[in-house]
Amino acid sequence: MVNSLEIAPSILGGDHTALADSVKQIESAGLKWVHVDVMDGHFVPNLSFGPGVVKSLKGKFPNLFLDTHLMLDNPHEYIEAFAKAGADLISIHVEPEYPISATLAEIHLLGKQNGIVINPKTPIGEVVEYLPQVDLVLVMSVQPGFGGQSFNPVALEKIEFLKKIRDEMKLNFRIEVDGGITAKNVGDVIMRGADTIVAGTEFFKNGEELLRCANGTF
Ligand code: DX5
Ligand code: ZN
Repeated sequence: MVNSLEIAPSILGGDHTALADSVKQIESAGLKWVHVDVMDGHFVPNLSFGPGVVKSLKGKFPNLFLDTHLMLDNPHEYIEAFAKAGADLISIHVEPEYPISATLAEIHLLGKQNGIVINPKTPIGEVVEYLPQVDLVLVMSVQPGFGGQSFNPVALEKIEFLKKIRDEMKLNFRIEVDGGITAKNVGDVIMRGADTIVAGTEFFKNGEELLRCANGTF
């Protein structure tokens, strides 16, 4: 394995009136990553958190790694705001029309890690040109917008492809998977090559078993 295993619970699956409690739960489980889902009501049919939430979380939990997943039509217009708010990694989707490569470079210039995200219906070939410049590829295993959906196995082939091409290209980006992850399927995604696992619903419902299964497989 080129990377450590990181479980990144999504606070979308926690209690939104008590986000700090959800994050304390993540911290008490011994985890370092927190996944923050940012939605704009255009790229996805839902609204969630903005830079203000990221700023408050960073202020209260400076040692946690804020993995910020932007589901926006115009992510390039918000990079500076999320970087200044304290996001540690900012991932942007490959599907909308905007200057993707320049936006990935901007994230690095602001001193943050970057990631490229791909939806279940998008062919994996779409991300290949960006691989040399990313720290992480996020493979969506549900159509983004809502937590609590079922895992789409199309993600498994994409994870395997990424693992293979990462070796061939001698790169070391992380392979993250997001959507419908449970204690039952986490072993499979790790065996295919995922090293960074997002889990919302399952972490807050069945976190201990999820972590046991993940750590037992890696
Ligand atoms: C979907 C989000 C996911 C979601 C995962 O739009 O990107 O991070 O919160 O939730 P679960 O684990 O409940 O499928
Ligand atoms: Zn996400």
